[in-house]
Amino acid sequence: MEWTPELMQKLESLRSKIEDTGQDFETYVNGWQQQQFQNYWDYIQLDTLLSLQRPVTQVADEPIFIMYHQITELYFKLTRLEIDALAGSVEPDFTDFLERIARINRYFDALKHSFGVMELGMKKEEFLTFRDALAPASGFQSVQYRIIELGCAPVINIVAEGKREELREASVENQMDSIYWKDGAKVESTGQPAYTAVQFMEKYWDDLLFTAEAYEHCNIWAKYQGFKEHWSEDQRSELEDALRKLDLNVNVYWPLQHYKTAVRYLSKKPVDIQATGGTNWQKYLPPRFQRRVFFPELWTAVQIADWGKSWVHEILSELEK
Ligand code: HEM
Repeated sequence: MEWTPELMQKLESLRSKIEDTGQDFETYVNGWQQQQFQNYWDYIQLDTLLSLQRPVTQVADEPIFIMYHQITELYFKLTRLEIDALAGSVEPDFTDFLERIARINRYFDALKHSFGVMELGMKKEEFLTFRDALAPASGFQSVQYRIIELGCAPVINIVAEGKREELREASVENQMDSIYWKDGAKVESTGQPAYTAVQFMEKYWDDLLFTAEAYEHCNIWAKYQGFKEHWSEDQRSELEDALRKLDLNVNVYWPLQHYKTAVRYLSKKPVDIQATGGTNWQKYLPPRFQRRVFFPELWTAVQIADWGKSWVHEILSELEK
């Protein structure tokens, strides 16, 4: 390679960058000389990644269960990056806002389409063998899932449905006390909170309260309200389409795909199999019953009344067979 004037210019500006902070350029050049070339396995931490699957039984299909949960958690982390970028945005940059919502939708589309890895990809008898060794652990305890919800919409929209009206003007802290998953995950026979929820709250409740308060004025809906005056009718309409899709992805499509999976593994006549988290999952999980809607302002009353209905009918009729 030649020492062209352009290359010399780049080196010069690099040198200025370092010397402008009062540091020595030559020290950096010596450091570069010593540095190893980057390789793929270190860069993506492959060895560490592959060491994170630790089955607790000898059952062959258990690694599938662990890995797909891990894959999902990584998609959740990607989603959180976009939520936080939106929460921190100060300029009403329409293209950026729309693209970030589209990214989240792509992540959830990927999760929705790949859920067959869980629904169809394990032998039922193997699942039912290794699952007992996991109790009371449950995906219910996924804190990232809860954080995503808090980052998308005002807490009131994910308060247990029956308490939304009375708590509409309440503080975030009071609303959090009736958040759907705290209110709804009960042991069917006693009506007491399921231990999986008790355990989860012991670990994360304070953090989640803090998170809810931190997102109060900068969740996705709050940001949209703050920026929309700057955008044209067409832009708003395009963004609202993307937000509706996000609402369906997180609150209907993913939960239903997940529910279908629970049905495949846990439903049994005459009495369903107890979930590892021990909840009343048949009543608790279907979106039709929880009716979480991030952006109710974007739906008609009929659409909200029918939230998740058609799919649930399909699944319930499968259960009847
Ligand atoms: C064979 C696969 C699966 C089955 C049978 C299953 C079953 C269940 C059940 C029964 C519940 C209710 C709580 C309980 O009693 O345990 C639950 C909750 C949950 N699971 Fe799964 N699950 C599966 C896979 C997954 C995967 C891959 C994820 C991804 C992280 C996940 C995330 C969740 C979440 C976030 C909840 C709470 C949902 C809510 O509060 O509405 N699950 N699961």
